Amino acid sequence: MSLRLGDIAPDFNAKTSIGDINFYEYLGDSWGILFSHPADFTPVCTTELGATASLQEAFAKRNVKVLALSVDGVESHKTWIKDIDETQHVHVGFPIIADEDRVVANLYDMIHPNASETFTVRSLFIIGPDKKVKLIITYPASTGRNFVEVLRVIDSLQLTANYSVATPANWKEGEDVIIGLNVKTEDAAAKFPKGVEIVKPYLRYTPQPNK
Ligand code: BEZ
Repeated sequence: MSLRLGDIAPDFNAKTSIGDINFYEYLGDSWGILFSHPADFTPVCTTELGATASLQEAFAKRNVKVLALSVDGVESHKTWIKDIDETQHVHVGFPIIADEDRVVANLYDMIHPNASETFTVRSLFIIGPDKKVKLIITYPASTGRNFVEVLRVIDSLQLTANYSVATPANWKEGEDVIIGLNVKTEDAAAKFPKGVEIVKPYLRYTPQPNK
């Protein structure tokens, strides 16, 4: 059965480009991003891994550990990383899982047989420090993902985990947020001393509380 939001992300042991790992041990108390791509030495995947590597500092600042995955082997990953480093002008320092036996791909339902019998699609999971699945996205092989959007979601998830707020459409770090429906309007001013704007009884904004 496929994973859903709120489910516990399955643990696993795997061979990777940086050595053997246990997923939970690797994550520790961090947030995690586990994403699959169809194959090594393919163009869109090369740009995706380069884009992710170029955001490594931004992920680290948010206490996020990143792991990529394909069904190719460790030696293939290591050789391909040299190409990514060269062509994308970055260093891929995060692990790429070599899921040749498809154990992880099956655990996370990353193979969609009507898209491809053999290769993983572009799945991406954000996993919280509680090991629960916080976000799932799936893209086809032909469309590279937007990793700046993934960072934006991390910002929203980390904010809304700590405050009774939600983030509106197209929200970016620093912009006003929506007061959660669990907060009564009569309590809102005390809870959000930076200000409360009431547009409708159910649509109330406040400046981002942790800024
Ligand atoms: C790519 O990364 O470019 C790609 C991978 C598999 C199928 C199609 C494109």
